[in-house]
Amino acid sequence: MSILTANDLYKIYGKGENEVRALDGVSLQIKEGEFAAVVGTSGSGKSTLLNMLGGLDRPTSGTVTVRGKQLFKMKDEALTVFRRRNIGFVFQNYNLVPVLNVYENIVLPVELDGIKPDESYIGSIIETLKLSEKLKSMPGNLSGGQQQRVAIARALSAKPAIILADEPTGNLDSKTTQEVMLLLQATSKTFHQTIVMITHNEEIAQTADRIIRVEDGKVVGQ
Ligand SMILES: Nc1ncnc2c1ncn2[C@@H]1O[C@H](COP(=O)(O)OP(=O)(O)OP(=O)(O)O)[C@@H](O)[C@H]1O
Ligand SMILES: [Mg+2]
Repeated sequence: MSILTANDLYKIYGKGENEVRALDGVSLQIKEGEFAAVVGTSGSGKSTLLNMLGGLDRPTSGTVTVRGKQLFKMKDEALTVFRRRNIGFVFQNYNLVPVLNVYENIVLPVELDGIKPDESYIGSIIETLKLSEKLKSMPGNLSGGQQQRVAIARALSAKPAIILADEPTGNLDSKTTQEVMLLLQATSKTFHQTIVMITHNEEIAQTADRIIRVEDGKVVGQ
């Protein structure tokens, strides 16, 4: 079953000679539980695509449907709430809240919703991502790999329909990259979590269930 559908997405920046077609008619479907890698050269439109799939930015035209709901029919406020409940983001630079400890960062999306965290589920995320020893630590005292594991745990905590990751291992050395990738794959399997991940690393892409190739704002292979 498709959990996310993008239909004929266009994102056009600028006008006339300065026009950039960052997305030039993209349609795709992501199935529940799928782990998809998005690859393509720099400037091909990968981040633009991911931001549209997650409703972080609105397209020039086209639709994105997540769990049966059309994102861009919603007003900004409703979209923000929908996003918090249904989409987990992981970025290259971790984006943790520096004044909150590891545990507080992980449960933040759930608590923002005024929901009591599902302790047994959160516990199994923490265990899978090997963060049990670090729950009281502040992000600034963690290594890059540890910070990214916290960001992945945070993305998972609200049981989102989909996790969107933009170069999650882009700042990590090769050993830590491998470690984080194995944990990401473990979470995908353990929690049947749908993940769409941008990577520059062909070797990493090959470990995904599926590779979506983007060139010049178009999907050229999937
Ligand atoms: N806010 C913006 N204003 C104008 N042009 C933009 C904007 N954001 C992106 N673009 C352009 O859209 C195109 C796609 O950019 P995007 O960031 O999606 O590429 P990318 O595939 O993620 O690249 P990278 O691998 O370097 O991260 C590029 O030509 C970029 O310059
Ligand atoms: Mg990018």
